[in-house]
Amino acid sequence: MSEAFEHLPVMAREVLEHLAPVPAGTVVDCTVGGAGHAGLLLGSRPDLRVLGIDRDAAAVAVARERLGRFGERARVVHAAFGDLTETVRRETEGDIVGILFDLGVSSPQLDRRARGFSYWDDAPLDMRMDSSQALTAAEVVNTYDEAELTTIIATFGEERFASRIAREIVARRPIATTGELVDAIKDAIPAPARRKGGHPARRTFQAIRMEVNRELPQLEAGLDESVHLLAPRGRVLVLAYHSLEDRAVKQRFATWAGRGPTIGRPDLPVSTAPDPIVRLVTRKPVRPSEAEVEANPRAHSALLRVVERLG
Ligand SMILES: C[S@@+](CC[C@H](N)C(=O)[O-])C[C@H]1O[C@@H](n2cnc3c(N)ncnc32)[C@H](O)[C@@H]1O
Repeated sequence: MSEAFEHLPVMAREVLEHLAPVPAGTVVDCTVGGAGHAGLLLGSRPDLRVLGIDRDAAAVAVARERLGRFGERARVVHAAFGDLTETVRRETEGDIVGILFDLGVSSPQLDRRARGFSYWDDAPLDMRMDSSQALTAAEVVNTYDEAELTTIIATFGEERFASRIAREIVARRPIATTGELVDAIKDAIPAPARRKGGHPARRTFQAIRMEVNRELPQLEAGLDESVHLLAPRGRVLVLAYHSLEDRAVKQRFATWAGRGPTIGRPDLPVSTAPDPIVRLVTRKPVRPSEAEVEANPRAHSALLRVVERLG
């Protein structure tokens, strides 16, 4: 099974470097996936334990198998990181010294036809990271009204033809497969635009996937809980792949660092920024090297941000 679950960990060197200074304790890998980052971390720091979390049962099975060689130092559970505090309290003891989020989908999720994530295949419309949840892409595509679809495709997909695509989807319902959805999207986009900027369905598929998996609300909830779980000098690391994700991370990190928005008249500023509870380790997001992007194109949009909990 594990041979089939190939996912190259993104910015692995940078992630390990930013976790090198944390004290001994447990690192929570909120998106353990194929255990790429988790395995490297356990291999490089014998004083660390890892709690791996994933909402995808297939990833949990693979991560357990791959981390088995680390014995009690690794534990992997099936959960969504939106309930981080509850999972961490239930599954760990002692100091939490690192919390890693590597967002988005894993390569196996994209590559396995039956999961319905890919616009290159013709498969049932699914796109659930957690196959036990009720909401699927088929339900989003076939039951949301045109205005809701437009908003989702415009916001999560940053797609300028969102309203045309939503109209075409509604006109063609019921849509059963990813292939039928791709055809609707292609026909909605004007021909000259269709030939530019990668696969014409990429942005719409991303948007529907983010809606099905409630990706932004999950991220916001997970981040909000993460900082309160950390021991002094512990770090939160986030690898984001989308500007909306990165914005949510950047805003929270700034607020925790006491650089939040100020409220008041510009001539009479009254700072409402709370006392800092973290220091920004990265002021600007760290990006992958050109060599990494060449070797692993899925790394190209990665943005890594890191904060450290103050004492
Ligand atoms: C990019 S992959 C992680 C790959 C991993 N870092 C590695 O090196 O193998 C993202 C993983 O996060 C999981 N995931 C996404 N959102 C999640 C959430 N809210 N809660 C738990 N897991 C989530 C996905 O199922 C997927 O397996």
